[in-house]
Amino acid sequence: MFLSIRDLYVNYGKFEVLKGVSMEIEEGKISLLLGANGSGKSTLLKTISGLNRPLSGSIWFQETRLNGMASYDILRLGVAQILEGRRIFPHMTVVENLELGAYSRRNKREIAREIEAMCERFPILGKKRKEQSSNLSGGEQQTLVIALALMTKAKLLLMDEPSQGLSPLLVNEVADTITGLNKDGLSIVLVEHNLRLGLSIADQVYVLENGKIAFDASSKDLSGVEYAQKIYLGG
Ligand SMILES: Nc1ncnc2c1ncn2[C@@H]1O[C@H](COP(=O)(O)OP(=O)(O)OP(=O)(O)O)[C@@H](O)[C@H]1O
Ligand SMILES: [Mg+2]
Repeated sequence: MFLSIRDLYVNYGKFEVLKGVSMEIEEGKISLLLGANGSGKSTLLKTISGLNRPLSGSIWFQETRLNGMASYDILRLGVAQILEGRRIFPHMTVVENLELGAYSRRNKREIAREIEAMCERFPILGKKRKEQSSNLSGGEQQTLVIALALMTKAKLLLMDEPSQGLSPLLVNEVADTITGLNKDGLSIVLVEHNLRLGLSIADQVYVLENGKIAFDASSKDLSGVEYAQKIYLGG
């Protein structure tokens, strides 16, 4: 299995958030993680990427047990996270941000070549490569966040609400970017409140409820959509 989570418990102090989460994620898929506000979606992604420590349970990525490893070692293995909100370094230029994405590697020429490739793949970044990144628009910043994550050479990308705060037009662009990355072989776990966007690009849907995965289905399975709507609309 590509990513395998078994009976995962995560607390904040005495507050129990994840209470026995188990899920299997296949390589090459876009997996959509749904759940009400506060259900623990961000907590789960942060636990996979090593930013949170679980109380018990295990997380396996290919042949490696991730829990217990430092977050930078998890990143080196190829599991990268895009956090909620846009995490770029606002006072640095586009290129400087991309260089940071390659921080764990040393070969300067190879890094420069990859930055060139990234600027071709996302022409808007190429055009604004020398701009301070705080001057980029919301959608451009989101593109930079994705490019930055790709610089880490991720195999699995964990994305927490990439469409947050974007206009409908830019939301479509983010969706296209995500499907494009997936076609190139990147596996993606997506947390997305925009149900229409999430369901339109996901292969598999997981619903987090009461600290567990309460539902898991193919996104083509309509009962998954109904279940998700029930959670979101409370109906
Ligand atoms: N660092 C923290 N310390 C204490 N409690 C936390 C911390 N982070 C999150 N929580 C709590 O844990 C619960 C789960 O939070 P989490 O951010 O994982 O939810 P979420 O599903 O991502 O919600 P949203 O959809 O609003 O982003 C919430 O009740 C939240 O208040
Ligand atoms: Mg969240």
